[in-house]
Amino acid sequence: MNPKLDWLEEKLRNMQSIEEYLPKYSPETVAKQLGINEEEIIRLDKNENLFLSKSFFSGILKELAEELDPRFYPQKEESTLTQELVGYLGLPSESIILGNGSDELIETIVRVFLGSNEEAISIAPTFIMYRIIVNSHGNTFIDTSLNDDFSLDVKGLLSKASQKTRLCFICSPNNPTGNQFKIESVKEVLKKFRGIVIVDEAYVEYAPYSVGELIKEYENMIVLRTFSKAFGLAGLRIGYCLADPHLASALKKIQLPFNINKFSLQLAIKLLDKRNIVNTSVNKLKTERERLYKKLCKIPGVKAFPSNTNFILFTTKRDVDIIYNTLMSHGILIRNIGNLLHLGRCLRVTVGLPKMNNKFLNIMTELCCS
Ligand SMILES: Cc1ncc(COP(=O)(O)O)c(C=O)c1O
Repeated sequence: MNPKLDWLEEKLRNMQSIEEYLPKYSPETVAKQLGINEEEIIRLDKNENLFLSKSFFSGILKELAEELDPRFYPQKEESTLTQELVGYLGLPSESIILGNGSDELIETIVRVFLGSNEEAISIAPTFIMYRIIVNSHGNTFIDTSLNDDFSLDVKGLLSKASQKTRLCFICSPNNPTGNQFKIESVKEVLKKFRGIVIVDEAYVEYAPYSVGELIKEYENMIVLRTFSKAFGLAGLRIGYCLADPHLASALKKIQLPFNINKFSLQLAIKLLDKRNIVNTSVNKLKTERERLYKKLCKIPGVKAFPSNTNFILFTTKRDVDIIYNTLMSHGILIRNIGNLLHLGRCLRVTVGLPKMNNKFLNIMTELCCS
């Protein structure tokens, strides 16, 4: 490289050590390997929503294609969606910030509140993006294990905080364990932690309660939400966060203008109007989740964990790689989580439609009984 660009060489070398989010297998590559159509792959690896049908979305998308004028920047769509969320959540508009997926909002939070040399803490296991984003900004990320029953070890978590700690990420319901933490435990962290507590409620629509209302009481709280799960918009990228207006306006200040495209904004507005359909699909998923959980528990050597989300974590006495690879050879993708707490290697499966789950269960039964 040109000697004048020494600095660039060093920068690129440093970039190599940064962890990135890389899904192990894409439906496209698996379909190619198996010589089948990508649509035939059963995607149970990313907790996407299979309970709102593609035809439901095509109807709305066609309507939007007629209404939308792409020549103009999005403007009123942002405030309309915010107002719809005010009605949906019962919180003031000054407390709501929209983002291009909740991943983008995690990044915004880190950019605003984590200075150089400052730290973030969290739990383990949890959603991987907190660590990836904090580390990519050159900051330190420290985690503490959950208790063996997956409950929050508040004392252990707080013991990881130092003078330099500014952020604490709590995912509830937690990915990948699937459980929701007690409100009392979350409140204890909010009271004792000398920084901002981010509660990620990506899966909250599938859970018994939300802690969203606590933002009225705690000025150091941010709640993250997304349209990617219960609302089925993973591909169109809309998330939002709820916070005290002081925190919210700080986040808003550094967001890029027009960060969400108007197509996605309009679609989210329409979905909130149709939230009875969304609610029905959430209820169907919950019923199917319980059926899948019970069936998994009956397979010899399988231990499944109760879930407040749209996925189920499980362990098996059978070799995890054999299960994962055999399912893949049948066109079923699930997530290989790796070692987790005292449990050894674990797998995570998204709750699919009954037909998909039956295929998954049949292969699992065959494998675990052979
Ligand atoms: C806990 C959690 N938070 C956030 C996200 C990302 O959501 P979004 O699609 O809104 O970026 C995910 C995605 O799987 C998740 O599991």
